[in-house]
Amino acid sequence: MEVKELCQAAIKHCDCLADALQFCEGLFPTIALSRLMEVDRKVLECWIRNGNQKLSTEKTNEFQQDSFALSTWQFSENCRTRLRDLLWRNEQRVCLLGVPSLVEYLPSNATGLKNLLIDVSKSIHVNQETTIHLPYDINLLEGSEFAETFDVCVFDPPWYLENYFKWIEVALSYCKIGGTIAFPLLGRMTRMDASQDREWILANCEARGLEFELYRGIVLYDPPSFERSILLRNGIPPVQWKRADLVVATRVDSKCASIVDGVPPIAGPKPIKPMRQFVIGQYLIDIVLDRSAGYGSGLFRTPLGGYWMKTPSRKEIGLSDCNVYVSNGARLICERPLDLGSQLEEMGGSPEQTIMQLGTLGFPIEIFS
Ligand SMILES: C[S@@+](CC[C@H](N)C(=O)[O-])C[C@H]1O[C@@H](n2cnc3c(N)ncnc32)[C@H](O)[C@@H]1O
Repeated sequence: MEVKELCQAAIKHCDCLADALQFCEGLFPTIALSRLMEVDRKVLECWIRNGNQKLSTEKTNEFQQDSFALSTWQFSENCRTRLRDLLWRNEQRVCLLGVPSLVEYLPSNATGLKNLLIDVSKSIHVNQETTIHLPYDINLLEGSEFAETFDVCVFDPPWYLENYFKWIEVALSYCKIGGTIAFPLLGRMTRMDASQDREWILANCEARGLEFELYRGIVLYDPPSFERSILLRNGIPPVQWKRADLVVATRVDSKCASIVDGVPPIAGPKPIKPMRQFVIGQYLIDIVLDRSAGYGSGLFRTPLGGYWMKTPSRKEIGLSDCNVYVSNGARLICERPLDLGSQLEEMGGSPEQTIMQLGTLGFPIEIFS
């Protein structure tokens, strides 16, 4: 279905903004909204005025601050319980790859065998009695003490093909034969080539001996803080718009094909760049330590396209030059990120004082207002 037909169907079948945006299968809301407006501006204006009553049972977490650098799109609360009920029961052992929001929902195990979360973020708290957290980069994992250990493996990588391929491989090696592997499958309008990526991901599953079922649209995300800010700056209420299908697969044998028919060879996944994370008051700041010497005169530069993200896409103009990300959707170029990290570490005092000190270094502190 073309975008225009999809939007026409959304207007016909939906009765609030959140539903219509979810109907658009991953099309980013700023684009979806303008295309929906082309179909029926009056209905859209009415939906925006009326707010978001349809979702009143499930509120988005307006206070959580999320990391753009780590792609922290978390499942909504209802979605977490739905996944728990669908995927495991007590006494099973579960492995979560990049799914920290499910740690509180993990099964207990009377024999004392622990569940596992691998997520590169160091700021995750788990119940150490029941769960091990390893802050590893999954894209760099090779071989493991966890081979064929878990009854259930659930993963949710940043939605790029090379990550899916690698994370499927890891889940497969950790999962017992006969066990379950589950993961959200990006919506087909997420980007230009998303339909093709979906096909290749499923072809990859088949080639690796997985038998799967697709649960349409059952995964729902809370908009992360950087995305909420993009939506609000575009006049869109920060509704739970992002939905995905869930692949639930059974590992039936130990087949592990490395070449998949019809899928061209793709580059391996990119390792996470070394980074430092700081909390300043209500903001989270990620500094990617990828440049050791500056070439500009000041410490900071504004990227092409300005310091507010317009979409959270990896292809957005100016993004590839950035190495500082604020959880409210701002991004910057820092000429000496290592120095910035050391200086932030030494700054004491209140968040307001830290922000003022950042201002004296040339940081555009209006980002915090
Ligand atoms: C797309 S989010 C998925 C979050 C999940 N939906 C949830 O509700 O918990 C990706 C998660 O994987 C983690 N992550 C991203 N890249 C990673 C990597 N290369 N290795 C390990 N963890 C990674 C992030 O910290 C984040 O928690």
